[in-house]
Amino acid sequence: MIRSDDLHADIGEILLTEEAIRTRTAELGAQVAADYAGRALTLVSVLKGSLPFMADLMREIPLPLRIDLMEVSSYGGTATESSGLVRIIKDLSASIAGEDVLLVEDIIDTGLTLNYLVRYLRGKSPASLRICTLLDKPARRLVDLPVDYVGFEIPDQFVVGYGLDYGERYRNLRFVGVLRPEVYAPPAE
Ligand code: PRP
Repeated sequence: MIRSDDLHADIGEILLTEEAIRTRTAELGAQVAADYAGRALTLVSVLKGSLPFMADLMREIPLPLRIDLMEVSSYGGTATESSGLVRIIKDLSASIAGEDVLLVEDIIDTGLTLNYLVRYLRGKSPASLRICTLLDKPARRLVDLPVDYVGFEIPDQFVVGYGLDYGERYRNLRFVGVLRPEVYAPPAE
């Protein structure tokens, strides 16, 4: 694997600039605020990838709200493919029964993680459950899920930054970029 210590050098193309993300997040926040005015909103985000988006989105929603955090990992897959087998590493810290829950994700790829989470959260009897994702990669979808708020539809490219990792790196980039293939693919013989 060829990796430099310069995170930016591993990025082939910037797909979404910091400013584009900020502008779209503000739009999503305003839309959520309009839709949930007067309701008991709880934002539930899924660590670790959603951390920057959750932090920015919640500050664009000027409503009284609660937040909760889950952490899951898919196992049996590879570094670039999820398997659909989900293990809960950190569960909700409070009940969501009777709450209007908005599940905040960084990316929906196959949809397998979300499919599991939606079933899991529905079992906790929320008043409602909707999904908000910063990035949607519809070309890779394996399960059909209604997604209520989408920041950006993106092509089927391996993206990192703004929470998204490859091998736990690149989460701290301020933008979303396409990882150079030579970083994750061995050089041709
Ligand atoms: C990413 C992302 C979603 C999931 C999407 O999480 O945050 O939860 O993959 O993939 P899917 O639609 O194919 O299921 P990941 O398992 O990489 O963990 P992380 O958030 O800690 O990086």
